[in-house]
Amino acid sequence: MTRREPVLVVGATGSVGRAVVKALLARRATVRVLVRDPAKVAELPSSVQRHIGDLRFVDGLQEALLGVGAAFYVSPHDPEEIRLASTFVRACEAGGIRIVFAGVHLTGRHDLMRLLKRTAFSLALPRYRGKLRVGELMANSTTRPVVLAVSNFMQNDEVFLEDILGGVFPEPLAAAGVNRVDLRDVADIAADALLRPRFPAGAYPVVGPASLSGVDCARHWSQALDRPVRYGGHDRGWEAVYRRRLSGPKLDDWISTFRVLRRHGLATSDDALACTTGLLGRMPRSYATYVRDITTAIMAG
Ligand SMILES: NC(=O)c1ccc[n+]([C@@H]2O[C@H](COP(=O)([O-])OP(=O)(O)OC[C@H]3O[C@@H](n4cnc5c(N)ncnc54)[C@H](OP(=O)(O)O)[C@@H]3O)[C@@H](O)[C@H]2O)c1
Repeated sequence: MTRREPVLVVGATGSVGRAVVKALLARRATVRVLVRDPAKVAELPSSVQRHIGDLRFVDGLQEALLGVGAAFYVSPHDPEEIRLASTFVRACEAGGIRIVFAGVHLTGRHDLMRLLKRTAFSLALPRYRGKLRVGELMANSTTRPVVLAVSNFMQNDEVFLEDILGGVFPEPLAAAGVNRVDLRDVADIAADALLRPRFPAGAYPVVGPASLSGVDCARHWSQALDRPVRYGGHDRGWEAVYRRRLSGPKLDDWISTFRVLRRHGLATSDDALACTTGLLGRMPRSYATYVRDITTAIMAG
């Protein structure tokens, strides 16, 4: 059974939300977005129902949620991330609207395992205390929520496309490797959860097929572009590259995250990969496929 009511997407002008809108439209869903910048609305496909509003203001949010069957949430890089998430959860609970969330969340079979993970995470990454709280708020809501705990996005590379095309892959990824997931796969699963009321509520890890080091990533780009791309993530100046490409709380979040990924990496768990494969009904897209698709799009202009 597929939902007929509109589905609301928050963050539709961002990396995750944009991919979710695309996946929903490919499934012929009625899509509504809550966008705060009217100028950015023009970038969205014309069939999308547009609501101009900010998560800070509950009235606009409530209006956007009217008549909606399910709502997708991605937490903005914002110092007030907990307040924004709480407002969203309360509005969805009041309207009886299912939440599908993609972001930071710790999954695990046992409470003890989750507690250990949460403690380790909070120690290594104090900035993640708020993000973990947001994930918990979503997971503990009364909306039959679906929480997708995603690993490092392959699409982060697009922020550094100019650097990569210039011959340097600047993201610091440990030699042990970092699990990287294609947002098209996250979006496919999110769209399924938004449109199928019978999609079981719960928290699911969504990962890519492998962990990649920065050297691996540079090699993939080099092969796809057929010219040298060297790994620059262990250069002293990697943070300066991030400061050129990003700003505000997103810059601070990325710097603190990548300091950890540079040192410790992010392993690929067999259980998480099996879960993602089960949700997709196929293997998740590989990094080689992602890089090839982007390169093809660049060549096509
Ligand atoms: N990057 C990774 O590898 C990774 C991995 C795991 C989890 N995550 C998590 O993913 C989330 C970021 O997702 P993303 O990359 O899609 O972010 P993004 O590209 O920065 O997009 C954020 C979206 O939220 C919108 N937004 C921001 N503040 C808003 C407000 N007050 N009201 C309404 N909309 C607002 C933005 O709108 P504007 O266009 O107007 O700014 C934009 O559409 C973070 O929570 C991060 O921790 C990231």
